[in-house]
Parts: sequence; structure tokens; C-alpha cells
Amino acid sequence: MIGRLNHVAIAVRDLAAASARYRATLGATVSPPSPQAEHGVTVAFVELPNTKVELLEPLGADSPIAKFLDKNPDGGIHHLCFEVDDILAARNRLVGAGARVLGDGSPKIGAHGKPVLFLHPKDFNGALIELEQA
Ligand code: CO
Repeated sequence: MIGRLNHVAIAVRDLAAASARYRATLGATVSPPSPQAEHGVTVAFVELPNTKVELLEPLGADSPIAKFLDKNPDGGIHHLCFEVDDILAARNRLVGAGARVLGDGSPKIGAHGKPVLFLHPKDFNGALIELEQA
């Protein structure tokens, strides 16, 4: 069911510093910062030949990544995003198999303008999983 690894997301305290580190030290192409108010984060994408790294900085007072950064003060890997051909069919299959979808269970528009869902990390070996409509 799952397809390409769309991105690996890393939560950071300072998006400008993290973007500069990827550009200067790793020689990567990094997109400009993009605030996603609905998701409580500002994102920048490190463009790689085969996938992306999504750098996430908290935005606003109740950002969903604030607690993660409290526990991981230096930042850390936050989630993996896999592409699926049909996000509603994927959700129904997962819910039928007992997996928990975060939030109200309906897809939201993600940073790429496509529908996304998040799956509970306790159902996937401690890793938060994002599914994105391909
Ligand atoms: Co993501």
C-alpha cells in the first residue's frame, strides 16, 4: 500500500540555523521557510535526489512539536512520510486493522498542498507516520 518515502521530518528550534547548516555544511538545496499556521509549524525542505528532509520549527503558542522539543532539546527525527495512492482507502484499511489515526481522522492539507494523515506512533514501533496522497 505505501509507496515512496516522501520525507523524513526533523524538529528544530531554529529553522534558519538548521537550514544554513544543511546548505553550508552538507551542500544541500533548502527551500525558503514556509509558515503553516494550521499545523503550528514553519517548514523548509531539504531537496535530495531521492527524497526530502522536512525541517520543522514551532509556530505559535501551542505548536504540536513543542512537547517533542521539550523532550529533545537539540531537535530530533519527528516523523516519516510515506506516499499512498488513495489516502481515504489507506485510512479505512488502517482503521480496519486497528491502527489509530490522529486528530478527527480526516485528512488535512499538508505542506505540499496535498491531503495528509498522521498515525499513532504506538502502533508503528514508536515512529510517528504521516501518509500523503501521492
Ligand atoms: Co511531514
